[in-house]
Amino acid sequence: MNTKKIRILPSILSARMGHLAADCRRALEAGADGLHFDVMDGHFVANMTLGPDVLRALRDELPEAYLHVHLMVDRPDFYAPRFIGAGADAVLVHIEAPCGIPDTLRAIRAAGKKAGAVICPETPVDALADVADAGLLDEVLVMTVHPGFGGQTFLESGLPKFRELRRRWPDLDLSVDGGINTETGARCAAAGANILGAGSFLYKAPDMAAAISGMRRAAEAAVLARIQQ
Ligand code: DX5
Ligand code: ZN
Repeated sequence: MNTKKIRILPSILSARMGHLAADCRRALEAGADGLHFDVMDGHFVANMTLGPDVLRALRDELPEAYLHVHLMVDRPDFYAPRFIGAGADAVLVHIEAPCGIPDTLRAIRAAGKKAGAVICPETPVDALADVADAGLLDEVLVMTVHPGFGGQTFLESGLPKFRELRRRWPDLDLSVDGGINTETGARCAAAGANILGAGSFLYKAPDMAAAISGMRRAAEAAVLARIQQ
């Protein structure tokens, strides 16, 4: 059962890089609960995006913003502390990354930040069992596209993962990333997700405030309908 408050995080991968602070401020003023910050190193995924200095600059501009950092990098053990030093509130590391994930999660927690693990579309929920059962996680992020680019189509394979995650670890925050709009967000929420990340849908919306409130209303209604079933 999903009884957690729905939170909506625009992914700044879809913001205008030349106007990043303005586009982040616009999202927060439109009712976003924080910002999803995508970090790609050109190795774990082919694309490259933003480093800790950019996060620090945003933190300076937006001291109150909740900054949710998605590390699509081979070395989250190396980069997580740098993003924490730059002002991250939550750091999410891919369980598929070839480095010591449990120690990285412990280091994020030791710094007083939220620790999360991310699974790619082809990764089963069971890959998280060791770190989840060891109590190292605050959040699991289920990718519903292959990481690397915005604007891809939602993959249905994420939906049963939310149901399994909610059943096995009911207290975790569950987030989704990839192809999220009003309709796919509501379906993920009904399946158990409580944090909805969305890039192109929100940044391309003619009225971002209406898009965020519509997405929130649809997700809350879907959760309620599920509870009443
Ligand atoms: C993809 C990124 C996403 C991306 C989502 O690898 O992790 O956060 O910005 O973009 P949309 O919402 O357009 O699929
Ligand atoms: Zn992301």
